[in-house]
Amino acid sequence: MQLFLKNIQQLVTVHSNGKPCKSGSSMRDLGIIANASVLIDNGIIQWVGEDKTFALPLQEDAEVVEASSFVALPGFVDAHTHLVFAGSRENEFALRTEGKTYQEIASQGGGILSTVKATRTATKKELKKLASKRLDAMMKHGTTTAEIKSGYGLDADAEIKMLEAIVELAEEHFMTIVPTFLGAHAAPPEFNDRKEEYIKLICNTMMPYVAKRKLARFCDVFCETGYFSAEESRQILQCAQSLGLQLKLHTDEFTSIGGSSLAAELQAVSVDHLEHINDEGILKLQQSRTVAVVLPGVSFFLHNPYAPARKLIDAGIPLAIASDFNPGSCMSFSMPLMMTIACTQMSLTPEEAITACTLNGAAALGLSQTVGSIEVGKQADIILYDIPDYRYLAYHFGTNLVSTVIKKGVILEFP
Ligand code: NIG
Ligand code: FE
Repeated sequence: MQLFLKNIQQLVTVHSNGKPCKSGSSMRDLGIIANASVLIDNGIIQWVGEDKTFALPLQEDAEVVEASSFVALPGFVDAHTHLVFAGSRENEFALRTEGKTYQEIASQGGGILSTVKATRTATKKELKKLASKRLDAMMKHGTTTAEIKSGYGLDADAEIKMLEAIVELAEEHFMTIVPTFLGAHAAPPEFNDRKEEYIKLICNTMMPYVAKRKLARFCDVFCETGYFSAEESRQILQCAQSLGLQLKLHTDEFTSIGGSSLAAELQAVSVDHLEHINDEGILKLQQSRTVAVVLPGVSFFLHNPYAPARKLIDAGIPLAIASDFNPGSCMSFSMPLMMTIACTQMSLTPEEAITACTLNGAAALGLSQTVGSIEVGKQADIILYDIPDYRYLAYHFGTNLVSTVIKKGVILEFP
């Protein structure tokens, strides 16, 4: 079945020129085509160019969409989320307005462990129902690919329940979903003062099972003071690597304990957060192919320092932006909002922010062969916006400007 998007007022292709991601000044090169057309066949992009140069025959039953009043962008690739969870933590949000910090709330029994309690109690069916609604809403806001982490189970049964929910959603939902095992998100209360034993459980029991059943593509660890040290993170990540999982790392969020260097050394696909990355970490990332994923919504929501995204781009490190959607540190999955925060608080240009939310997000998931840009041979994940110019997207913040979501060549209808 063919879909022909005709005469798009402004098409932002984010063309990759055959590379997996963009870095340095090329992040500003969006490959914009005015009055463009895109031909899609069976969900795959067949032709992209100026409408006046289109000369291919269309199938009789091809659907034609006149798009002259729209700006088109690739669907967003949100490379870091904790979208599967039960419960909510608006109480912690209120406490922060009174001056309590995220770490203080966590040390008093809130934080990750409060969501662990709610998630352990929920059934897989309940988790899927909650997550599916969130996925619909994300797609309505222009996201067509999302990574989802476990990490609110923290025992074998509950971690597997979360991963099964994620993998089943990947089969059932329109969203392209990438599952990540984050058993090392925090040590659970029953292992208080016995963290080494919990790490053994992760490495000897949970991960071999996860790898055998292919329940995750990535393994991630929260490498942070009070969570997992660099040495503990190394142990878990090396175990993951030996089981064929690819690596990610949460690190440098509150303190700098060597996580970025470790991610670079172990050739992690991405290293995420980086609010407190130091010069050594930047140097090690420069010498690696690891993508830096920054999470503007977290700093905004927790009122914490921002990652030095400008410095990272200027150092030539490929930078992606993700939402980190989760009930504690960022209760938003709006990628346009992340772009606005990145532009106003982290000194990115709108062009850099778009690249960071699309092609470079795909690179942070090892998926840039299939998604993240509007190019021949890629999956047709395209969003039409009712706006006059692509820069309007980050500029007119706090409202949803999406007009049409096209996923794998299908125009989605939302209730
Ligand atoms: O990425 N930093 C660690 N984990 C999450 C927060 C999880 C939570 O607070 O529930 C994050 O910010
Ligand atoms: Fe996170």
